[in-house]
Amino acid sequence: MKRRKFITIAGIGFVAAGGATYFINNNYQMSKYENQAATIWSHSTKFSGSDNEVMKDLVRYATLAANSHNTQPWLFKIGRRSIIISPDLSRRCPVVDPDDHHLYASLGCATENIVHAAKAFGLKANVSVQNNSNNVIEINFEPISIEKTKLFQAIPKRQCTKVTYNGKKVAAEELKKLEMSAQDEGISTQLFTDKKNMETILNYVVEGNTAQMRDEAFIKELKEWIRFNASSALKHGDGLFSATSGNPTAPNWLGDLIFNMAFTEEAENDKYMEQIRSSAGVIAFISEQDNVEHWIKAGRSYQRFALQATALGLKHAFINQPVEVPQVSAQFADYLNIGDRRTDLLVRFGYGPEMLKTMRRPLDQVIVG
Ligand SMILES: Cc1cc2nc3c(=O)[nH]c(=O)nc-3n(C[C@H](O)[C@H](O)[C@H](O)COP(=O)(O)O)c2cc1C
Repeated sequence: MKRRKFITIAGIGFVAAGGATYFINNNYQMSKYENQAATIWSHSTKFSGSDNEVMKDLVRYATLAANSHNTQPWLFKIGRRSIIISPDLSRRCPVVDPDDHHLYASLGCATENIVHAAKAFGLKANVSVQNNSNNVIEINFEPISIEKTKLFQAIPKRQCTKVTYNGKKVAAEELKKLEMSAQDEGISTQLFTDKKNMETILNYVVEGNTAQMRDEAFIKELKEWIRFNASSALKHGDGLFSATSGNPTAPNWLGDLIFNMAFTEEAENDKYMEQIRSSAGVIAFISEQDNVEHWIKAGRSYQRFALQATALGLKHAFINQPVEVPQVSAQFADYLNIGDRRTDLLVRFGYGPEMLKTMRRPLDQVIVG
């Protein structure tokens, strides 16, 4: 056999064998991932125990909250009947979130899960935010009668569903419940379901997304948090696993290449247009003051909305581009007519499929002291 032909056949054989090995291993890792996700996204089996066991259970519920890039930027300190939540600043995303707004909103999301889970353990959570240099959230508990609310039941079912929905409208009565759930002192919301406003919002999302896709630092930071296969997602226990948003998986060495080919400005903008047009509505969360305390409030307000949406059988996902890109956020504030107030978060909602759940790190990595 001629040398070149031999090398070609050997090369094809090598790639085929590599592909087959990846396929078999990936199937194994995917089922391992699914089993682990099922354990993580479940309710506790008992709702009593020592103070320490109950506090740990509440932290577990906290970690099921939404959080930016799934960085899980939180640390928990457990007391006898108290939990202190502080930011894990080693998990910042300085490009997309230079002032840590999303990081503190994520701590707010975790706080809200604790508030609802605590009732199921017969505890009332009293939350206070220490607006000092550590910016910690202190939660003290006092006994009440046990109540397993609908929002509590929804905690392990909630997810950010980052795919196309089915275009079905949401009934007025349910829209009212959604709006009510998000209410809080210091936070206001604007909810849109009409085509005209949804198309205007879509244009802001496309404008923000275009700016982000052209920003090398943004792409570099995002890639650091993408997990291209189950094995990598399991190893890290955090980040954005491609399969959870319906994207293909790939070996790490190929992931970068696929990302560069598929993750183009045009493809991403088309995707967002389709996703927003398939949604039933969009809600903006706007805080009265632009400080840590209010960012945490905005996170809490979103998480309550998300739990209520989940309880109603609705899916939701963030479309934060217009609030993340400074030149777009100023125009977006004009459109919402909110003066110099800041739009914290922007979320679409509607009816859609259940997707694979995201990973979480083990409790011993987030409980300190
Ligand atoms: C403050 C904040 C900002 C977020 N921003 C975005 C975003 O701009 N785009 C997006 O697709 N998801 C965004 N997310 C959703 C996270 O990616 C998601 O919560 C995380 O991957 C964990 O997944 P889960 O919510 O399904 O558990 C954000 C979440 C939070 C709390």
